[in-house]
Amino acid sequence: MPFLRGEISPPGDKSVTHRALLFSSLVKGRVHIEHALLSGDTRSTAKALAKLGLSLNIDDQGAAATIDVVSPGYRHLKEQSFDLSFDCGNSGTTIRLLSGLCAGLKGTFRFDGDASLRRRDMTRVLNPLSEMGVKVDYQGADGHAPFTIHCGDKPLKAGNFPLQVSSAQVETALMLAALGGEQGETRVSTPYLVRDHSYRALAYLGAPISLDRDSRVYTIKPLLSELPARDFVVPGDISSAAFFLVAAAIMPGSELLLKNVGINPGRTLVLDTLRRMGASISAQNEREVCGEPVCDLLVHSTAPEKRLQGVKIEASQVPSGIDELPALALAFAFAEGTSLVEGALELKQKESDRLRLLTENLSNAGAMVVTTADGFVIEGRGGSNMKGGGLWNTALDHRLAMLGIIASLACEAPCLLEETESMAVSYPRFQLDLESVYRHM
Ligand code: S3P
Repeated sequence: MPFLRGEISPPGDKSVTHRALLFSSLVKGRVHIEHALLSGDTRSTAKALAKLGLSLNIDDQGAAATIDVVSPGYRHLKEQSFDLSFDCGNSGTTIRLLSGLCAGLKGTFRFDGDASLRRRDMTRVLNPLSEMGVKVDYQGADGHAPFTIHCGDKPLKAGNFPLQVSSAQVETALMLAALGGEQGETRVSTPYLVRDHSYRALAYLGAPISLDRDSRVYTIKPLLSELPARDFVVPGDISSAAFFLVAAAIMPGSELLLKNVGINPGRTLVLDTLRRMGASISAQNEREVCGEPVCDLLVHSTAPEKRLQGVKIEASQVPSGIDELPALALAFAFAEGTSLVEGALELKQKESDRLRLLTENLSNAGAMVVTTADGFVIEGRGGSNMKGGGLWNTALDHRLAMLGIIASLACEAPCLLEETESMAVSYPRFQLDLESVYRHM
């Protein structure tokens, strides 16, 4: 029986690395970013910034990179007229956040990406940006990349944006655009709690943003003076850690220490849910790093007589675990009783249609899964193991690839994974880290 034992330092957080890079454009001077994630997605952001005239020096030390960004300053960027094309690869965060940043600048900006990115909805960002005064042209299908935005003909309009979708990417794009306006206050909010990395990082840099904690409305004023540069230290990525948390919880005899993991309150559904299911996860050495809460997580497998229990996840909770729901679904399949996930249609909007592929793959592996109108139900197998051995399609989606590897270890027979190369999008060292803690009795 395989189990996991030892210590892992998950790679730098993808969301925070994107923000540390992109927000460097708002300051003047050198920003030193430590423990950054260097992966397919963050390279797309780094390349885009180089096109905007920032200079980047990347020191890739394998597990974590150090990136020095030298920025001419936001006021300097605003004085220029650009004519640029960006290839955002597979990265939804790059294309959406960069659209917001460029909205505040002057010129013509073309955006495109791979087949997965072209499939994803861009209206959620581009409609509000049009309301602010950006002109948008779609070159292919309406509402999708490739598209062009024409910016800076007129000052951007400030306004109120209560978003329909609980998306931190959209929220951040509007924050960036609002900073590029010339007058007035912009307010933005999401229906449910999402990751607030942008607010934390912008406040850390001294940008004109405030938060009303009761209504969760952010107010942003135009950034009219240069901000001094500040360094960033990026926490470990809880979305990457999630695969190990779930693996250790479901594989008997496991004990893992996951060091230096970011526990932003908008991303802790995986911890809260595994604990509710009965998993033993303790947070140690809790601290704050550049405005972000960070800790070490110690996770044990549950004793055989105390099986994980099925749980219900409501729509309001989904955004705080949107990237970890696939991993949680695997835990549901190994639990005792029924697990129900509601309001999870956003899973269809990710690097693949995760709702469909996740349920199909788990079912091929022997799980009892039923899709519902807006989510899924899993009847856990309790004590009896999943057989595995079935086809596991990833559609080049990094999170499905990593989940397939974990499922293969936990099931009786390995799943037949379509590919695993896509892991490089967010966790290039996943296999190495896994091998370092893999044990067999
Ligand atoms: C992200 C927000 C989430 C998440 C994505 C990263 C971010 O997307 O799924 O992986 O960095 O803001 P949405 O904003 O579309 O929910």
